[in-house]
Amino acid sequence: MDGLTVRAERLVAGGDALARLDDGRVAFVPGALPGELVRASLAEDRGDYVRLSLGSVVEPSPSRVQPACPSVAEGCGGCTLQHLERGAHLSAKVEIVREALARTGRLGDVPLRSVEGDAGPRTTVRMAVLPDGRLGFRRRASNDAVVPRSCMAAHPLIDGMLPELRASGAEEATIRCSISTGARAIWLHDAKGRDARRAAVSGEPEDVEVDPRASVVERVAGVDLRASMRSFFQSSARAAELLVAEVRAAAGDEAAAGALGDVVDLYGGIGLFSATVAGPRARTLVVESNPAACADARHNLRDRDAGVVAVQVEQWDPRPAGLVIADPSRTGLGRRGAAVVASVRAPRVVLVSCDPVAGARDLRMLVDAGYALDGVAVLDLFPWTHHVETVAALTLR
Ligand SMILES: C[S@@+](CC[C@H](N)C(=O)[O-])C[C@H]1O[C@@H](n2cnc3c(N)ncnc32)[C@H](O)[C@@H]1O
Repeated sequence: MDGLTVRAERLVAGGDALARLDDGRVAFVPGALPGELVRASLAEDRGDYVRLSLGSVVEPSPSRVQPACPSVAEGCGGCTLQHLERGAHLSAKVEIVREALARTGRLGDVPLRSVEGDAGPRTTVRMAVLPDGRLGFRRRASNDAVVPRSCMAAHPLIDGMLPELRASGAEEATIRCSISTGARAIWLHDAKGRDARRAAVSGEPEDVEVDPRASVVERVAGVDLRASMRSFFQSSARAAELLVAEVRAAAGDEAAAGALGDVVDLYGGIGLFSATVAGPRARTLVVESNPAACADARHNLRDRDAGVVAVQVEQWDPRPAGLVIADPSRTGLGRRGAAVVASVRAPRVVLVSCDPVAGARDLRMLVDAGYALDGVAVLDLFPWTHHVETVAALTLR
């Protein structure tokens, strides 16, 4: 099936365009934009659908632009939407979410709200360590890496050190900086996030701390938060602020203040939402499986009426609460996580999802468990990529 000509209909989760073959089967075309007529060749035949490889664009979209980053042409898989003009990203992401909610979640008429606001460059990046010691980003759907000359998605405090930086004895490096303090740190690890024991770094600026136990402090919504290298932190402090504002709006004043009962912060990480969304007098509980994040959460919530439970959500013994905030990793709550959320029977639930399909599946399970879906806010916290964040507000029926 070489030399196919197809018309792209829309973007779907993952950033590919969806088109149809003459035989009616769905075709996914990375790099095509809605409305475009493209020539493509078969990359993979999965029976009921195919993946195509983009050849040329016959009729380009008016929103198509030349990628500003030269590494895109070299195959860097980091920024998957550089060919779409920046002003069109948020609306494209809203459509991706709408499609996932309708198709996967069977949730048709959900009020969707796009949240304007620039998350800015990323203050944490995870890079592959190449055999010659240089650092690179993975190619799309590949283990090979591309070494960027410069990365426009990374904060200048990180981007500026990349040309001279070399590492050895590790598969990957996580580099983090703080916008608030200017501090920078590097953690060397394997692909599963385990410390690399005999790793070394060279060429780093003098101020950079190279230590798995290093941490930075970021100010989010007026609160200083410690984030260790082994802990998750949002893509930037600005992204965290945008997210916090939406989670607060979705929770509502009463629930956030703790007036309806305790605030349970599932997949709570370093305690971001407990420290910023929950009112100062609310009693909060963070449930989080990563020990480093739990230690950060205890530190960040030390002046509050807060508990931190180091356990997997699926193993946690649910207890009554007025508000549940759940912010799982990319795979979503899943059946067991959704059952735990629903079993709390909190009058208000806020679900933060970083994968539209997993999020839609989770919302369907919560709706089936007795929750009404009031609305979903869509945020672009990863500029230039297909990644999209959603904040869903649910009320117990
Ligand atoms: C997307 S992060 C959100 C963290 C935090 N809410 C924030 O905004 O900074 C997901 C968090 O869930 C944790 N996690 C992943 N799977 C988990 C599980 N099964 N049970 C508890 N925590 C989990 C991760 O360690 C990570 O800290």
